[in-house]
Amino acid sequence: MIKVTFVSADGTRRTVEIDEGLSAREAALFNSVPGIDGDCGGVCACATCHVHVDLAWMDRVGPPEEGGMESDLIQFAEGTTETSRLACQISMVPELDGLVLHLPELQH
Ligand code: FES
Repeated sequence: MIKVTFVSADGTRRTVEIDEGLSAREAALFNSVPGIDGDCGGVCACATCHVHVDLAWMDRVGPPEEGGMESDLIQFAEGTTETSRLACQISMVPELDGLVLHLPELQH
């Protein structure tokens, strides 16, 4: 199991565990963490799973692939920054055990 901590806009922290290979979106939804909608089911088509990767983890997570679906779609999320990613595109691998993701106030 891999741990991921979600920090909501009001600073509330919630650490959950998820099986390796599942996504950060699934980590939130399977554990009823509020703040991620994930309306498209995780197929990179809605941008309602927008998160900000904690700066300390950005090197390991990396930005969306340039010119890829995620990088095109993320432009439709509100308040994006250089640390923005779509949680459905973050695969929870052992190297990301302990990952910290910040949730935006709103998903649209
Ligand atoms: S769940 Fe739709 S883009 Fe991530």
